Amino acid sequence: MLLDLIKNRKSVREYTEQKISHEDLKKILEAGYYAPSWMNVQPWKFIAVENQETKNLLCELSSHQPHVKNASALIICVADKNSWSKKEFGEVLASRGIGEEGREKIFSIPMFYPVLLGEDKVLMRTVEQVTYAVSYMMLEAKSLGIDSCIIGALQNEATVIKNPELFEKVNEKLGLTKDDVIITIITLGYAKEDTPTVKQRKDFDKVVYFETIKNHLN
Ligand SMILES: Cc1cc2nc3c(=O)[nH]c(=O)nc-3n(C[C@H](O)[C@H](O)[C@H](O)COP(=O)(O)O)c2cc1C
Repeated sequence: MLLDLIKNRKSVREYTEQKISHEDLKKILEAGYYAPSWMNVQPWKFIAVENQETKNLLCELSSHQPHVKNASALIICVADKNSWSKKEFGEVLASRGIGEEGREKIFSIPMFYPVLLGEDKVLMRTVEQVTYAVSYMMLEAKSLGIDSCIIGALQNEATVIKNPELFEKVNEKLGLTKDDVIITIITLGYAKEDTPTVKQRKDFDKVVYFETIKNHLN
């Protein structure tokens, strides 16, 4: 059951030396590729990284978190702001059978076209899409017996760029453009220790309700 997989997944930060096969890595990437997105805009790029030098640079970018350089592989999840351009988004809409008039209508409505609301809203909406793909990839990894951890504590446009030189070096190494924003790094590998999964969560009743926040789910 998918729920069992969800309950058993946990952030794993220590990995064995065992490498993930390319076959499995591809399956994990495919899970992200097939994730849903706003009008199918797919504003993302996923970069699989195994090269140790690149992993070391990304570790530095992520406050020196050791699991970034010790993971078997990383998936760099990039928000591609250019996906919202009239050209790129227009192509997606056209492929769904939306004609020129329909596309122009969409491009004129702020609710549908965040570009009209400014840079921050575009970034916000783009990040929103990427996170679904991240979840899909982590769950696919778990289903293959591969553990993972999300790395969000990294220098980017949404947090802080403390070391512009390092930031530039990483962007160059990954071949990113000015419209690409690294949102998350997923570390992947086989857990060093098979510890039981203990889910520390707020009380179910504190976050889940039925019909209104006055009622709990029985
Ligand atoms: C957006 C986001 C950013 C995170 N950033 C980091 C991080 O930088 N380093 C890390 O070790 N864990 C990070 N985590 C993992 C969380 O700490 C972890 O998911 C949370 O404590 C719940 O534990 P669990 O994943 O084992 O259920 C992040 C998780 C999310 C969703």
